[in-house]
Amino acid sequence: MRLAIISDIHSNLEALESVLAQIRQESVDAVLNLGDLVGYNASPNECLELLLGQNFFNLAGNHDLALLEPERAESFNIIAHQALAWSREQIRPGFRKFLEALPLTQEFGDRFLACHGTPTSADTYIAYHFQGKRVFKHMAKQTNLKVCFFGHTHRRALWYRDIRGTVGSREITRPKVDLSREGHYLINPGSVGQPRDGNPEAAYAIFDLEEFSIHFKSVPYDVAGAQRRILEAGLSPFLAERLAQGK
Ligand SMILES: [Fe+2]
Repeated sequence: MRLAIISDIHSNLEALESVLAQIRQESVDAVLNLGDLVGYNASPNECLELLLGQNFFNLAGNHDLALLEPERAESFNIIAHQALAWSREQIRPGFRKFLEALPLTQEFGDRFLACHGTPTSADTYIAYHFQGKRVFKHMAKQTNLKVCFFGHTHRRALWYRDIRGTVGSREITRPKVDLSREGHYLINPGSVGQPRDGNPEAAYAIFDLEEFSIHFKSVPYDVAGAQRRILEAGLSPFLAERLAQGK
């Protein structure tokens, strides 16, 4: 079984269309979307319309939750806050209902789990060692749980806990990584709609359950088109600039 993992689309229609076109060539059995469907970019309704027509597993991210409950956006920086307020005004009622129904986590059998930030919070990052360690500790409560997919940082990541209990973050030097069946992993595919690891291409990943491998991928998309929509909507030019830089 092959699973496509996407995350942090953030209303970037051009990026989403390119990733979905690529995924259609991949012969995957399911698509898992780790949340933050809205926020930052300028095509919230178009992206939700596209997602609604698919049979994906979609999760709620912190921006999706903050669109529904404005007080959750109080900790956002001013640019993120303004973009989300704009999205809240734009969103069609039916799509609001779609966001309201999104779960925070999703389990696949007893071995795989998916979340936005961490399994217990859509707002919390896994970026530092103590954060990775904390999530592995949480995972250990379920004996068979091997892999947790997460997003939120907009950066690819592969955290491991080996057979001796050592926790670390593995540098992704090759796109495809064979995983150890004895190990436990936290995997972040990067962001479709606002990548921040220096590569402006829309990121996603393919997880192969039989091979027990993860393949980090990215696809070029119409960045200029996405930038144009941001500027036309009157959102911060910074949001357009960062797409070109992938930061
Ligand atoms: Fe995000």
